[in-house]
Amino acid sequence: MASGKRVALVTGASTGIGTATAIRLAREPGTELVLVARREELLRELAASLPCRATHVAVDLTDAEAPQRVRAHIEAEHGGSLHLVVNNAGAAWRASFAEGGSTNVRRHMELNFEAVVRLTEALLPLLRACAPSAIVNVASTAGRVARARTGSYSASKFALIGWTDSLYAEEKANGVHVGLVMPGFIQTEGFPATELREKAVTRWIVSKPAKVAEAIYECGPGRKPERYVPRPYALAAHARILFPSLTRRVLSGGAAGSLTTKTAGESAD
Ligand SMILES: NC(=O)c1ccc[n+]([C@@H]2O[C@H](COP(=O)([O-])OP(=O)(O)OC[C@H]3O[C@@H](n4cnc5c(N)ncnc54)[C@H](OP(=O)(O)O)[C@@H]3O)[C@@H](O)[C@H]2O)c1
Repeated sequence: MASGKRVALVTGASTGIGTATAIRLAREPGTELVLVARREELLRELAASLPCRATHVAVDLTDAEAPQRVRAHIEAEHGGSLHLVVNNAGAAWRASFAEGGSTNVRRHMELNFEAVVRLTEALLPLLRACAPSAIVNVASTAGRVARARTGSYSASKFALIGWTDSLYAEEKANGVHVGLVMPGFIQTEGFPATELREKAVTRWIVSKPAKVAEAIYECGPGRKPERYVPRPYALAAHARILFPSLTRRVLSGGAAGSLTTKTAGESAD
């Protein structure tokens, strides 16, 4: 980021990729952070540990009034300045469609897509007023390729990616860059990837939140259009377009089953 005050908001900052992103952004001179998630104690502890000014909003982003609460906080605490929004909060509740049905699809869409759209709608006027500014949407490699039992999650992330591409084209003229980050398997509270880390043959494909945080920095202040983390996960997305039948066969075969991991969301149910 350039010198001078730069206000950055990170959703899902209480754990995982969001915490790592807050720590990464805090290294830039002049940064002020707005940390958003539901667990206030974790946000308060993180804010106190950072080397820059950091305020927080403890809110459930699926609540109807959440976007206005966040905007009012930025106006009251940061004078309405906003240079970066990282839409990172999200979750997965793995289930087949036969088990989870439309209820599970709706649950994913509410948090991973609609909450992002509503928050962005409330904050876009502030970002435009502070341009050059940026939005980074944290989707997933699962927003390019879908596997069994992750259909609802994939649907929400496919939606997020399509909307992000369009917003990128629309907001360019207004100086609001819209970046996209698509993580693969990253060890976090919500996505522990325990099954993959337990086996030597799959351990290497699990990466760390700090790597995603660096990609978020590149796609926000660094103004890159998009990044996969780790980068080789892009091959799966390319294969889906170039060799659709083969990719589908591979992803629905027995070997793909060994890449299925339990998420914290489904463990909590
Ligand atoms: N880790 C991976 O393997 C992976 C892969 C691809 C994509 N992603 C994406 O990366 C993003 C971050 O995930 P993560 O891996 O860092 O998982 P995580 O550790 O579970 O973090 C999720 C964050 O979202 C917040 N959150 C969840 N529901 C919320 C709600 N209703 N309102 C407000 N905040 C809410 C959580 O905080 P509170 O519980 O305190 O609200 C937490 O800070 C997600 O969008 C996820 O889909 C992760």
